[in-house]
Amino acid sequence: MQKIIINGGIKLKGEVKISGAKNAALPIMAASLLAQSECIIHNVPRLMDVATMGKLINYLGAEVKGIEENNTISINTKALVKSDAPYELVKTMRASVLVLGPLIVRCGEAKVSLPGGCAIGARPINLHLMGLEKMGAEIKLEHGYVRLKAKRLKGAKIYLDISTVTGTENLMMAAALAKGVTVIENAACEPEVVDLANFLNKMGAKISGAGTDVITIEGVDSLKGTEYRVMPDRIEAGTYAAASAITEGDVLLKNCMPRHLDAVISKLRETGAEVTEEADSMRVKRKGRLKASDVKTLPYPGFPTDMQAQFMALMSLAEGTSIITETIFENRFTHVSELKRMGADIKIQGNTAVVKGAARLSGAPVMATDLRASASLIIAGIAAEGETEISRIYHLDRGYEMIEEKMSALGAKIKRVAAS
Ligand code: EPU
Repeated sequence: MQKIIINGGIKLKGEVKISGAKNAALPIMAASLLAQSECIIHNVPRLMDVATMGKLINYLGAEVKGIEENNTISINTKALVKSDAPYELVKTMRASVLVLGPLIVRCGEAKVSLPGGCAIGARPINLHLMGLEKMGAEIKLEHGYVRLKAKRLKGAKIYLDISTVTGTENLMMAAALAKGVTVIENAACEPEVVDLANFLNKMGAKISGAGTDVITIEGVDSLKGTEYRVMPDRIEAGTYAAASAITEGDVLLKNCMPRHLDAVISKLRETGAEVTEEADSMRVKRKGRLKASDVKTLPYPGFPTDMQAQFMALMSLAEGTSIITETIFENRFTHVSELKRMGADIKIQGNTAVVKGAARLSGAPVMATDLRASASLIIAGIAAEGETEISRIYHLDRGYEMIEEKMSALGAKIKRVAAS
């Protein structure tokens, strides 16, 4: 077990290069199962979740190269030997469920452990299953696994009650090789869905409408391997932007796409940060006290739930009271009690947090509870006076590439040590 120690009170300054998006790389890796030849994927972040997805597709019979060493990986799925995603892998990463769509069309069957709840909510996959059933899959639940069988899936009209991100991705992947046309209504509009659609289209799929709430997929008979570059991680970019704002910093974020961050940028400006946007970079500067600002998480293009914890750290140092409402996940406030240990004044009422800005935060021993909560504690720690010690940092390694190195290069005093 390791922990992170931060000596706070530093203003971040300099440049940081944003990595490829975890939540685009994972579905793209799963989608490579649909080709019967090699896919080369660039700008893949070196993260624990990517390694887990690599392990899973390797278990299924794919040859995966480069995952430990660099940001370009090769996946060759010529010969799949298995069609199941075992509990041991799914329990460490919910996104393993993304192999469900590819496996059912590639193998005619799939057996995937039901992911169960996690730290941020119940997170069922009923909508993934409903869509696949509409396309003709036979579904059985037994012994904690969902088993699917189908000859060739048929195109269908699918309405999603909730615009689920990985649900939309699973259905898009399955529909790419189904017979006929599939229309997904109330589809997720997240940029990662668009990145996956672009990858699939490069493989030979016929998908239109990705990025809107109606996606149309004309099924094709086969897909071929391709080469592709994963989009930049908008949540990593948002996290560094928040880190600059909370520390009265001046940080240039390179290799990012500010147009994916409209809601976050607009909120940062409300807090008093100065944000300058270029096509593939942005600069975030702030001087003086932050101003309070209310936030409600919503599906894209609304304010992302994956930025809620980091924004709350920011608001805990703002002048005035902010109301932060979480509408996507029912249990995504586990960072609150940890921020309170650092002196934040936050009260939770249902899915709303009332944050009364304090003049200062003070370093304390805290515990990371999920990936974005960990990021929130890191930025709070950099802004706080004194030493913050963050334990359970394995959550952080799931989603932030080289965070200590990147924060250190911006001037933060942060190090990883073995926990006693
Ligand atoms: N939902 C259902 N039924 C379903 C699917 C979803 O009720 O069949 C509900 C969920 O319980 C939740 C809501 O729909 O309340 C939205 O969840 P969604 O399915 O969109 O989330 P996800 O696809 O499981 C992805 C990201 C998350 C991110 C959410 C929301 C990946 C691999 N994960 O999860 O990322 O928070 O979308 O934007 O893309 C993270 O990176 O830290 C992370 C948690």
